[in-house]
Amino acid sequence: MYDYYLGGTHNFTVDRQRAEEVIALLPITPTIMRANRQFLRRAVRFCAEQGVDQFLDLGAGIPTEGPVHEVVGEVTPDYRVLYVDSEEAAAVYGRQILGSDPRCAFLHADICDIDAVLDSPEANKVLDLSRPVAVLLFSVLQFVPDAADPWGVVAAYRDRLADGSYLALSHATAEGLAAQSGDVTAVYSKTDNPIRYRSDDAVRAMFEGFNLVEPGMTRIPEWRMPGKESDERYVGKVFGLAGVGVKDGTASGAMRGARGRVRR
Ligand SMILES: C[S@@+](CC[C@H](N)C(=O)[O-])C[C@H]1O[C@@H](n2cnc3c(N)ncnc32)[C@H](O)[C@@H]1O
Repeated sequence: MYDYYLGGTHNFTVDRQRAEEVIALLPITPTIMRANRQFLRRAVRFCAEQGVDQFLDLGAGIPTEGPVHEVVGEVTPDYRVLYVDSEEAAAVYGRQILGSDPRCAFLHADICDIDAVLDSPEANKVLDLSRPVAVLLFSVLQFVPDAADPWGVVAAYRDRLADGSYLALSHATAEGLAAQSGDVTAVYSKTDNPIRYRSDDAVRAMFEGFNLVEPGMTRIPEWRMPGKESDERYVGKVFGLAGVGVKDGTASGAMRGARGRVRR
């Protein structure tokens, strides 16, 4: 569905049908997805410019439309990228796209199984966990139910990361979508990936143990958007939240205390 929203060709009839149902309810959906993809680009480039050359793209989807390795490659040729997705088609197409590039790998796994991801042969080949890694969770935790504890999942990755590592995350929120969000949720509930809109506070709590870099958490299109792009296509219309945080060992007790209290 996401590939179809972005105008890609790696999708099936059932994906297109469901995506069209969502677009009928919420015509701005493809614009939201493009805004998310542009945030990916800005956030990855930001991390690379801080000197991070290793990236763990969790819930990566198919690495087309400006994939992480291409964005990092604009900053350094010595990158390492591990893509992870639980959808087999994403892994099959992903491996085709990556070819034999020794700097990248695609792992077919559930991101909630942290050890299966970080102790996989693919991770061992591509990532050095003794050095900083940027963990990317773009528009994926909204598909992880509360019962699977997405906050605990992020914390478990955080605890395996070296200081100086980053978390870049975007997440669907219901604010501004009150009228349509129930209907959109109903369409996704017919797919393998039911969606959950969470509150701003619940998304903020995912950054526990990370210090948010400027400008903190914002609506997806507003995070470090260059002035020339601050246009009416996005601002005030695209509601999900986005942010980038760094693990530097100084994250506040207040943020740590948020976990467990804030849900939904
Ligand atoms: C909306 S797409 C986002 C793709 C990409 N991160 C981006 O922002 O451009 C969500 C992706 O997350 C994947 N996904 C959902 N739940 C997952 C899980 N538990 N483990 C791994 N991948 C998951 C889906 O298969 C899908 O490819």
